[in-house]
Amino acid sequence: MKVTDAEIVISAVSKKQYPSEHIPEIALAGRSNVGKSSFINKLINRKNLARTSSKPGKTQTLNFYKINRSFYFVDVPGYGYAKVSKKEREKWGHMMEEYFETREMLRAVVLITDIRHEPTRDDQQMYDFLKYYDLPVIVIGTKLDKIAKGKRVNYLNRTRQVLEMEAEDVVIPFSAETGEGKDAAWSNLKQYI
Ligand code: GTP
Ligand code: MG
Repeated sequence: MKVTDAEIVISAVSKKQYPSEHIPEIALAGRSNVGKSSFINKLINRKNLARTSSKPGKTQTLNFYKINRSFYFVDVPGYGYAKVSKKEREKWGHMMEEYFETREMLRAVVLITDIRHEPTRDDQQMYDFLKYYDLPVIVIGTKLDKIAKGKRVNYLNRTRQVLEMEAEDVVIPFSAETGEGKDAAWSNLKQYI
């Protein structure tokens, strides 16, 4: 995919702020600090359009990035960060449910996991939540640059098992550092946009 145009349209915290256009949307999901924003930047060849940080909790709103004037990537806040108050967790839950429940143009979700670890309990819950809404899920095992080549297959198999993934959903190893997996991610995403 050749990206010629990418812009932030809005950082939304509630439904009334979502863009009103009817173009396809692909949302991100995953733990805090796992690499959701970095994934978007790598796919669209922009260093820091989606703001990233080495500290968890960087993305706090639903950020709508319009790509090639034809579809949206929607970056979201992560889950599973221990140092978050109950109140903040509830706010996150409400914001995410409102989005996933109401967004008609949402075509698929990219669930980012860390290739160095098995999916967490939170990852399992997120996968189930997305499947409840009948959404196609593309699982990305990111930070591929941090593991030895021999460990890839093991990760891919374990991820399928732990998440109890449906046969039609795919797992793609990826690195935002090296760009490995980028073409595979685009060729899968193309069918939804
Ligand atoms: P929140 O917005 O807090 O939920 O985090 P996020 O999931 O958007 O993570 P972000 O993209 O901000 O990245 C978190 C940290 O991981 C940053 O320091 C990134 O540089 C690093 N990172 C992301 N992807 C990769 C990768 O593929 N390889 C390596 N080595 N580091 C990565
Ligand atoms: Mg982020």
